[in-house]
Amino acid sequence: MRNESRVALVTGAAQGIGFAITRTLGSIGFKVAVLDVASSQDIHEAVTVLTEEGIEARGFTADVTDPESVADVVDDLITGWGRIDVLVNNAGINRDALFLRMKEENWNQVLEVNLQGVYHCTKAVLKHMVKNRSGRIINISSVVGVTGNPGQTNYATAKAAVLGFTRSLAREVAGRGITVNAVAPGFIDTDMTRELSEEVRKTWIDQVPMRRMGNPQEVAETVAFLVSDSAGYITGQTIHVNGGLFMA
Ligand code: NAI
Repeated sequence: MRNESRVALVTGAAQGIGFAITRTLGSIGFKVAVLDVASSQDIHEAVTVLTEEGIEARGFTADVTDPESVADVVDDLITGWGRIDVLVNNAGINRDALFLRMKEENWNQVLEVNLQGVYHCTKAVLKHMVKNRSGRIINISSVVGVTGNPGQTNYATAKAAVLGFTRSLAREVAGRGITVNAVAPGFIDTDMTRELSEEVRKTWIDQVPMRRMGNPQEVAETVAFLVSDSAGYITGQTIHVNGGLFMA
């Protein structure tokens, strides 16, 4: 099937890595759905940029922690575009604190978005992929899901769980023509990391063998590979995009 008739749903896509993924998949011919909890104005702006670049894009305001709103988006997309070929579970948040000071609320919020969100979105999309006997699911994890990181027990727990989810689901649906893979970015230049102090950013960069942050485009290119025909025999894997910060 040519990419022009293929549909990708990307969560947390109004900015950062998710936006770069929609732009990259759009540039190779996918129709892209931008799902985000951001303001409708921000989503509209993201969709406008894509449309101006000749990409067929639609925006949806939805929270990945709310199964009903996610199901509505999926129904809407199936009605409008007839199919969903690719799901990228990218929406994520962090609420960092050392464990002794971490509030239960912050623990729960991070698990809700980064892990339950993956459950809800995958649940909503998978039955369509099974019916079509084809599909690609990409989960955006993190290097800290493998290495751990002080101050991020909540985030690292969710991101590690996503890797277990990826491997288990990959085994379940491999026979249905569906691949499930994870991408684990390292230290990427987005709003998430711009919140950190200069000092913390410098400490991170010093640990990266390439001595620089990654950019969202570099993560997006890896997703584009995983959804391509070239990656048809790759499933259950974690692809690290981290400038050498961690080597499996
Ligand atoms: P970002 O903060 O720039 O963008 C995240 C997007 O997700 C935002 O548009 C936000 O509105 C959306 N979002 C948050 N909660 C949501 C919800 N409940 N429902 C729907 N959308 C929601 O972050 P960034 O850096 O682009 O991160 C994207 C993914 O990459 C996240 O899963 C993050 O954990 C992961 N990641 C980022 C790294 C980095 O260095 N920036 C490193 C490793 C992983």
